[in-house]
Amino acid sequence: MLSKALFLQCVMGAVISVISFLSFTAHAIEEVNVYSYRQPFLVKPLFDKFTHQSGIKVNVVFAKKGMAERLSREGKYSPADVLLTTDISRLIELHDKDLLQKFTSSKINGAIPKQYRAQDDTWFALTTRVRNIYSAKRLGNIDFNYEDLADEKYQGRICTRSGKHPYNVALVASMIAEHGETDTLVWLEKFKNNLARKPQGSDRAQVQAIHQNLCDISLGNSYYFGKMLKDEKQKNWADAVNINFPNQKNRGAHVNISGMALAKYSPNKQNAKTLMEFLVSIPAQQLYAETNMEYPVRSDVTASTLVASWGAFKADSLSLETIAKQRKTALKLIDIAQFDL
Ligand SMILES: [Fe+2]
Repeated sequence: MLSKALFLQCVMGAVISVISFLSFTAHAIEEVNVYSYRQPFLVKPLFDKFTHQSGIKVNVVFAKKGMAERLSREGKYSPADVLLTTDISRLIELHDKDLLQKFTSSKINGAIPKQYRAQDDTWFALTTRVRNIYSAKRLGNIDFNYEDLADEKYQGRICTRSGKHPYNVALVASMIAEHGETDTLVWLEKFKNNLARKPQGSDRAQVQAIHQNLCDISLGNSYYFGKMLKDEKQKNWADAVNINFPNQKNRGAHVNISGMALAKYSPNKQNAKTLMEFLVSIPAQQLYAETNMEYPVRSDVTASTLVASWGAFKADSLSLETIAKQRKTALKLIDIAQFDL
C-alpha cells in the first residue's frame, strides 16, 4: 500500500510530467511552412538562425517551377504560409492569380523602400540585383546606357540569353516605361541586329563567350559576377570582363528583386509574420546578401565586401509595379522583333 504522502507525490509527479509534455507539444507544433524558389544553400542558414531565435520550426518545399499551379491546386487547404521567389514577374503572377493576401507590418514597411514593395501590401522585396552590362576588358572603360545595345558600332559583338527570359523581359518592360512602345521596338530590332549569335544559355554563358572572344558585350545579373569570381572554373571568364552599371548619368541601372509574400490561405499567419519580419531584420539581411551576393533591400545594411568592391551605383527609381505593368507588351515586342530567332 502506498502511503498518502507517497501517493500525492506520485500524482504531483504525473501532473508535472503532463504539463511538461503539453508545453513541449505546444512548443513543437509552432511552425511555419515555406514554398521557395530560392535554393536550399541560400535560405537554410537564415531559417536555422530564425528557428534558433524564435523556436518556430520552418518546413520548406523547394521548387524550380510550378509554385502558382501548386497553390491553385491546393486552394484553401494549402499548407503554404510564406512564399519566397526571385524576379518581379513571378511575384506578379502569384498576385494576379489571387494566391496572395495583404499583410501589413510597420517593421517591414519601414525597412523596404516603396518602389520595392506592392502598393497593396501583397509582396515585398528582400534583396535587389542589377541587370548589368558586362564588357570585355579589352574594350577599356565605357559609360554604357542600355540604349547603346542598339548602337551599330556594336554590330555582331553582343551576346545574350533568350529575350524571353524573365530577367530580359523586365529590362525591356523598363525600356517601354521609359521610352514608350514604338521606340522600344526600334531599340529591340537594332539590338537584335547587333547579336553575335542566336540568344542562348545563361547569363554566365555570355561572359564565357566574351572570354572566348565570341563577343564583346553581354547582359547579366550582378550576383553572377561574384559567383563566377568564386568558382574555380569560371573565374577566368569573370576576369575577362568589366561589370558596368548602365545609365549612371541619367535614370540609373535597372534593378530586379528577390521577394516574399504571404500565401492567401496561410494556416500559421502569426508565425509567418514573425518569419517575414525576421527576413528584413538587419542580421538576416546581412546574411542573405553575404550568401548570394545580392544587394540588401535595406539601405542601412551594406553589401558584402566583394559586391561593394564593384562600386556604388544609381538605381532606376521607377517602381517595380510600373515595370511589371509593361511585361505583356514587352513579351509582344520581343516576339515582333523576332529577338530569339
Ligand atoms: Fe539568376
